[in-house]
Amino acid sequence: MSAADAVTDSLKRMRAEFGDVPGGRPADYIPQLGLADPDAFGLALVSMDGHRYSAGEAEVPFTIQSVSKPFIYALALSVLGLDEVSRWVGAEPSGDAFNAISLEPGTGRPANAMVNAGAIVTTALIPDAPDEPAFERILHCLGRFAGRELDVDEEVFTSEAMTGDRNRALAYLIRATGTMPVDPVLAVDRYFRQCAVRVTALDLATMAATLAYGGVNPVTREQVVPAEVAARVLAVMATCGMYDGSGEWLLRIGLPAKSGVSGGLIAVGPARFGLATYSPPLDTSGNSVRGQAALRALSERYGLHLM
Ligand code: DON
Repeated sequence: MSAADAVTDSLKRMRAEFGDVPGGRPADYIPQLGLADPDAFGLALVSMDGHRYSAGEAEVPFTIQSVSKPFIYALALSVLGLDEVSRWVGAEPSGDAFNAISLEPGTGRPANAMVNAGAIVTTALIPDAPDEPAFERILHCLGRFAGRELDVDEEVFTSEAMTGDRNRALAYLIRATGTMPVDPVLAVDRYFRQCAVRVTALDLATMAATLAYGGVNPVTREQVVPAEVAARVLAVMATCGMYDGSGEWLLRIGLPAKSGVSGGLIAVGPARFGLATYSPPLDTSGNSVRGQAALRALSERYGLHLM
């Protein structure tokens, strides 16, 4: 069997082995996400030479949700630099749920850019460019990471905009601490739109591979963000990407990762690969049950733990 066939074969085996792991439920606090097919399970891997491997429902579209957060953090770091971004959002694991009021005592800054509070601020930090309004800039940046033009699922956007009072409350609370760069209503609208950008597991694996490859998309060969930005994003993903499950994840799987409530999950093997899974049923931390099981098995079987 060729090396390429062996990769596809292991993804297919993970699909078969973990495809009916029980437990978890698709998120439904955003009503539209509750309509997802709980049995859809896609896996994808993109290597540093730009090869794309997949198994199962790897081309089924879903909304990116929180998996957007590391990429918009990367955009903010590229545009504003680490010192400026760090004035507004920290880099400490919150140990709390993704939607917690995690504002640092003293500074009032959100704990990190991977939880909702920090991501709303990160999104709000992206300025309009002379030729491109802020949201277009966000959308194009996500598209450069994915290697294709992406769009917004308007139904999911509206569904979250109509029910997202907790995020709206977070945004107002952050303004009250003095660390919200724009109007809270505008910040949350832009953040909901960003979360509703449509991707597939193959897109997410390409995006993860771009972080793995020093900010260069291995498929299109475009330098999307500088290498030092990609490295910093991976550091924050390693410590904060799986919310209150981050410590356990780093202990057992040992790869920088990021999950989202629609069921997407990425993991990065620096200088080696980007991996992604899609499976909507989530555990109580908001992480995909089957995605975590498959990535854990891959990490153990192939010795992917970085430490
Ligand atoms: O802000 C929210 O609640 C959603 N748009 C995204 C949350 C999310 O994906 C958390 N991930 N596990």
